[in-house]
Amino acid sequence: MRTVVFSSLTLALLSQRARANTTLSLDPSTTWGTWEGWGVSLAWWAKAFGNRDDLATVFFSLNSQTIDGQTLPGLGFNIARYNAGACSNNTYDGDSMVVSSNIKPSRQMDSFWLDWGSSDPTSSSWNWDADANQRAMLQKAKANGANIFELFSNSSPWFFCLNHDPTGNSILNNLQSWNYVNHTVYLANVAQHASQNWGITFQSVEAFNEPTSPWGPSGTQEGCHFDISTMATIIPYLKTSLSERGLSSFIAASDESWYDLAITTWIGLGSSVQSQVTRVNVHGYQYGGGRRDVLWTLANAAKKRLWLSEYAESDGSGAQLFSNLLLDLVWLHPTAWVYWQAIDIPGWGLITGDNDQLTLSGASTKYFVLAQFTRHIRPGMQILTTLDGNTAAAYDASSQKLVIVAGNWNTTQTITFNLNSAKTPGINGSTVPRWSTQTGGGDQYKSYSDIQINNGQFSVPFSVGQVQTFEISGVVLN
Ligand SMILES: *[C@@H]1O[C@H](CO)[C@@H](O)[C@H](O)[C@H]1NC(C)=O
Ligand SMILES: *[C@@H]1O[C@H](CO)[C@@H](O)[C@H](O)[C@H]1NC(C)=O
Ligand SMILES: *[C@@H]1O[C@H](CO)[C@@H](O)[C@H](O)[C@H]1NC(C)=O
Ligand SMILES: *[C@@H]1O[C@H](CO)[C@@H](O)[C@H](O)[C@H]1NC(C)=O
Ligand SMILES: *[C@@H]1O[C@H](CO)[C@@H](O)[C@H](O)[C@H]1NC(C)=O
Repeated sequence: MRTVVFSSLTLALLSQRARANTTLSLDPSTTWGTWEGWGVSLAWWAKAFGNRDDLATVFFSLNSQTIDGQTLPGLGFNIARYNAGACSNNTYDGDSMVVSSNIKPSRQMDSFWLDWGSSDPTSSSWNWDADANQRAMLQKAKANGANIFELFSNSSPWFFCLNHDPTGNSILNNLQSWNYVNHTVYLANVAQHASQNWGITFQSVEAFNEPTSPWGPSGTQEGCHFDISTMATIIPYLKTSLSERGLSSFIAASDESWYDLAITTWIGLGSSVQSQVTRVNVHGYQYGGGRRDVLWTLANAAKKRLWLSEYAESDGSGAQLFSNLLLDLVWLHPTAWVYWQAIDIPGWGLITGDNDQLTLSGASTKYFVLAQFTRHIRPGMQILTTLDGNTAAAYDASSQKLVIVAGNWNTTQTITFNLNSAKTPGINGSTVPRWSTQTGGGDQYKSYSDIQINNGQFSVPFSVGQVQTFEISGVVLN
């Protein structure tokens, strides 16, 4: 969002895509904001495995950690999204939750609010002992260095849902209209309790999840449809509920599943409600489609932060993740990028696992592709204009370090990275450390130190499907 212009350097993209080999020139003239970080949503995997210190280390620190015999480089996520659950199995005044026959127990997230007897969080209508494992992982994330926390809801607690099924009610607004305020009271009370009792300050609170999509009934996960005018009613209530409790948390909205839905929803909220939203959150489930550029333009014009707050798919090779993440960096310009479930079924999980059986079966190649980014493009760096659709670049002014992450897909080739637009005193002949992951099998975040800078550039062979990260020290961009 913030644009910093580095001196007189100008755009100089020299991409010879048609040739067998490619030369890419660094373009430090425009940056796309200060990187806030990488993250993951807690929810299901944390409910299952939240008591495991080794998994907290591997996801939230940069340390190496052995998980069931496999030594993994820590991903260093600094963002954790905590899911305020909607399920409880108590009965109140003869009412109880309608349990979807399709939801796995691991996806039933515990609610802290148990019944509509009282909205006082110190009353017996609230159980703060609920959701122990997800809370434990939140704490462990912080202990490992995570420093940005978001509270989000997939559905209000079941007893505020019209059909008492927290997986949703198709395209009907499932939140009872007389409990719009209470949906925000729930979230604000959780945020307040976290601040007073867990040592966690939620930077942001998000009351919706993919809200204009249909959800349930009898769905496989918690979900709730909200039409845009309902969101526009609830957001001011959330603002009030947070400020009444003296909370500094800001509002993020609306976590739509598609870029194009996010555009429609953002416009539909209208300027007065938009003014109460500090950050636009969007999910990446439109993959290669959608007007990322339009959403960025809207957010930038409204001076809002912008996050890619959830992403996942079933391609365990990491190739799709690479390609969609690059599209985000090129067109959406988020300042943070958050994966959905760290542990999930094959293809979807960074580590493959069964959140119901509590079994793990190894990191996917996608884990290592993501490590190529998260371990090198760190919070506080400036994201540079991406060199081409397959290359990301970031710069750390304090350490004068340039990071390049590049992927190669169609043909084996040598890519030459030309640094001549930067000042690089004394780096002629220096070694560029590199890390490599081969999405088709082979290297898994393997490190090498075999590449030298010569006359302001360095050349690296790439196999098909290879992702490589380079760290170049001693680069001055101004
Ligand atoms: C591409 O680079 C490689 C390695 O430097 C070289 O052997 C090959 O001849 C180059 N191909 C073309 C078409 O320039
Ligand atoms: C009650 O429901 C929760 C989901 O909210 C589930 O995790 C828990 O195992 C259930 N407890 C019992 C005793 O069935
Ligand atoms: C919210 O919930 C409380 C407790 O169940 C109830 O008394 C109140 O009427 C509800 N609605 C509003 C707008 O607070
Ligand atoms: C691969 O090549 C095709 C044309 O052959 C091109 O359309 C496509 O963009 C290329 N993919 C990448 C990732 O460069
Ligand atoms: C870089 O080093 C090479 C080999 O040592 C030398 O030929 C070349 O002149 C040097 N270039 C610069 C810009 O110093």
